[in-house]
Amino acid sequence: MRTDTVFSGHNIIEFRKKHGSKPLRLPLRPDYAIRTARGSDLAALWQIERRCFPTDPFSRQSLARHIRSPRACVILAERKGAIIGFSLVLFAKGRSVGRLMSLAVAPRARHGGVGSSLLQAAELAGFRFGVNSIQLEARRNQVNFYMGRGYAPFSQLARYYADGGSAVRLRKGLTGGGDTVVPFHVRG
Ligand SMILES: CC(C)(COP(=O)(O)OP(=O)(O)OC[C@H]1O[C@@H](n2cnc3c(N)ncnc32)[C@H](O)[C@@H]1OP(=O)(O)O)[C@@H](O)C(=O)NCCC(=O)NCCS
Repeated sequence: MRTDTVFSGHNIIEFRKKHGSKPLRLPLRPDYAIRTARGSDLAALWQIERRCFPTDPFSRQSLARHIRSPRACVILAERKGAIIGFSLVLFAKGRSVGRLMSLAVAPRARHGGVGSSLLQAAELAGFRFGVNSIQLEARRNQVNFYMGRGYAPFSQLARYYADGGSAVRLRKGLTGGGDTVVPFHVRG
């Protein structure tokens, strides 16, 4: 199901209308495209990963493995042929929770809605994959970004990151099922 999924601006906007907890400032006519990653994107993705997570980036090999894996979805944003960000979400066998492992936008491309679009595309992938929530670990200074997008903190992990920083664990429900953290209503 995953690698051929097309993430058009249209289906992200539709998904947001149905499942988003609050309106986000996403450009109506984005000047970037969202699509799933291919093997040939690896070098650019790894460069962004290292730039955004200097203390504990995924290895190049791990990223390559995730791009190939049927239980992972690597989604990227591309502007004028250049990759400007990506999200990576994992779907473990038999689990109803998708894990967002990475969300990274190149510094020059931030604050234009790219990160929010990539997060929503990861949620859309999770919804299609059949998980009922998305879970992630974030540094404290990123918690507001996720809370503004419907995620609720539920625990903390001390000394989680390689530099000794602790993490906050957050979760967002994608369906109306028992795992739902943030209430929402499916319309239409
Ligand atoms: C976190 C990260 C992915 C956000 O990416 P981004 O592309 O800047 O995200 P967005 O543009 O969607 O949102 C960022 C802010 O810009 C604002 N924004 C969005 N569109 C905007 C626009 N058109 N004009 C002005 N501001 C805008 C948003 O409101 C948001 O502010 P808020 O969090 O206070 O609501 C990016 O900063 C990053 O890669 N950081 C380093 C890696 C990291 O920490 N990742 C998360 C780890 S768990």
